[in-house]
Amino acid sequence: MTITTEPAQVRATAPHALGYKDFSLGAFSFHRDEYFAHVRWTTRDGRPMSHTLDAGDFLRALMRDVAWGFFYGWVNFDDVIGTVNHYQSVDLYAGSFNGTMKEAGIDRLENFPTDQIRATFEAMLDDWTNAGFDPFAAPQETGSAHGRKNGSNTAKITRARELAKRCVGLKDDLNLRSDERGAPVNRAFADVPQAQPELHPEPGFENEVHAFNLFGFLSRSQVTWNPSFTSVVKYSFMCPTTEEHKLPIIHGNDRVEWFFQMSDEIVWNCADKNTGKPMARVLMKAGDMAAMPAYCRHQGFSPKRSMLLVWENGSPKIPELIRQGKAPDVAVSF
Ligand code: PHB
Ligand code: FE
Repeated sequence: MTITTEPAQVRATAPHALGYKDFSLGAFSFHRDEYFAHVRWTTRDGRPMSHTLDAGDFLRALMRDVAWGFFYGWVNFDDVIGTVNHYQSVDLYAGSFNGTMKEAGIDRLENFPTDQIRATFEAMLDDWTNAGFDPFAAPQETGSAHGRKNGSNTAKITRARELAKRCVGLKDDLNLRSDERGAPVNRAFADVPQAQPELHPEPGFENEVHAFNLFGFLSRSQVTWNPSFTSVVKYSFMCPTTEEHKLPIIHGNDRVEWFFQMSDEIVWNCADKNTGKPMARVLMKAGDMAAMPAYCRHQGFSPKRSMLLVWENGSPKIPELIRQGKAPDVAVSF
């Protein structure tokens, strides 16, 4: 493999005939053509294996994995490949959490320092994303991922993550969204009232008593399936997001997480986290709440742009407490 001018940890070839570079990480390699991303690996007993994903699906998943710093636990790109976040290091796997492939012994899992896999994924995302394609946008709001290499879209794939320190709209914190700040109301939310609540704090409490219009804030999201932090109390993270089409990853959390469906509808496919065996379909309508057990993986489908509040307990202790049986992997036991 020819090494080009990527950061030191990134192994990439010179561009091939279609204009894209090939990348490799351990015994995994990545190749894109006009329509597909091809992942190749060597099985545990030394056999060559490969897997193919649509290039758009691959880049939408890769975008989330990169932007979320590998997220909580498992980010399955599909039923075969994905990552597990260990918070200092990250596993890259193929088939390891697919019951059939695991049983056939054709899987592979390798652990990498977070910096190395991040640098490789960032370089691949940048090289493989063409000028007209925004992997964070709803399919109806972006051009196609397909075709030969055609420019790049670095600004759209390096958006800053919107993370409030305490609460959106407080002094020195994440700003409210507005037309002036480049966040117009989305076509699907034209009827959402934009008025802000009245605040009457006692003198001296202006930076403590606070409220904002969360529906208005969400109506102005430019991206889909990308939770932002709107309020943070210790490890209680309120992460609302606007959803259209499907969650580009299948998430297997290392803790319980909560969903509050704030508008419209999302249907969730839930499956066993280790094997992918289907477990449940959950239809959430506006006003519904659900908790996803830590033993499942889940993927949402939102036929119309909707508002979803994801609530995470971000404590770094939880995965270990669950492993030791000291914290439950479900929200409630009856
Ligand atoms: C999730 O994995 O639970 C998840 C991720 C992103 C979203 C919504 C839910 O936008
Ligand atoms: Fe999740």
